[in-house]
Amino acid sequence: MLEKNWVKNDGKRQEYYSNMRQESERLSRLIENVLDFSRIQRGRKKYNFQLGDINACLGGIVDMLSPYAAQHGFTLVKDFAARESVPFDRDAVMQIAINLIDNAVKYARGAEDRTITIRTLPQGRYVLIEVEDHGPGVPHNQRQKIFEEFYRIGEESRRETTGTGLGLALVKKFAQAHRGFVEIATAKPSGAIFRVALQKAL
Ligand SMILES: Nc1ncnc2c1ncn2[C@@H]1O[C@H](COP(=O)(O)OP(=O)(O)OP(=O)(O)O)[C@@H](O)[C@H]1O
Ligand SMILES: [Mg+2]
Repeated sequence: MLEKNWVKNDGKRQEYYSNMRQESERLSRLIENVLDFSRIQRGRKKYNFQLGDINACLGGIVDMLSPYAAQHGFTLVKDFAARESVPFDRDAVMQIAINLIDNAVKYARGAEDRTITIRTLPQGRYVLIEVEDHGPGVPHNQRQKIFEEFYRIGEESRRETTGTGLGLALVKKFAQAHRGFVEIATAKPSGAIFRVALQKAL
């Protein structure tokens, strides 16, 4: 349609292009997840841990995803309080942030408060990365299961969001590769906080 110039209305054309771009970005994210997942399964995933500034790495991702979030009415807020350099695998931390922000945009869509806060903070021997939304949050009885591969909350036929159920399984593996962990907390007044802990000394 676009190739043959059948869409005369500028607004419509823009909308189609934007949908196509979003769809191709979604597919690239899916492919990245599937490839990493299969590497991990085969024991072939290689990490490249380097001492660096985690805030700078996350800041780049937040800037990259801000237009995508804005299209869905969300504002991404940076609150970076970690001060020390930590050893981390850049690609893994990027994937962690992309998956958590993508989830917040996807599952908090009906929320009144559409800010998503991306935080870093020191805690003992860990540096924490947090992604907080004000959507429905995650019920306590689902807080383990959603980290299983291919698990998604609810029935397939009634779901309004698309996904594979791999994002959080990968986030957990990547956190563990940094000798850390991932957990869920409840945001105030409501919503989900996904907290990823990375060890300061590997
Ligand atoms: N921020 C959130 N708020 C509420 N529920 C969430 C949130 N993040 C994840 N979930 C729930 O956890 C499930 C698993 O998330 P996960 O990221 O692993 O898979 P997905 O988003 O369904 O698919 P994929 O990430 O592979 O595209 C989701 O289907 C959703 O039900
Ligand atoms: Mg996801």
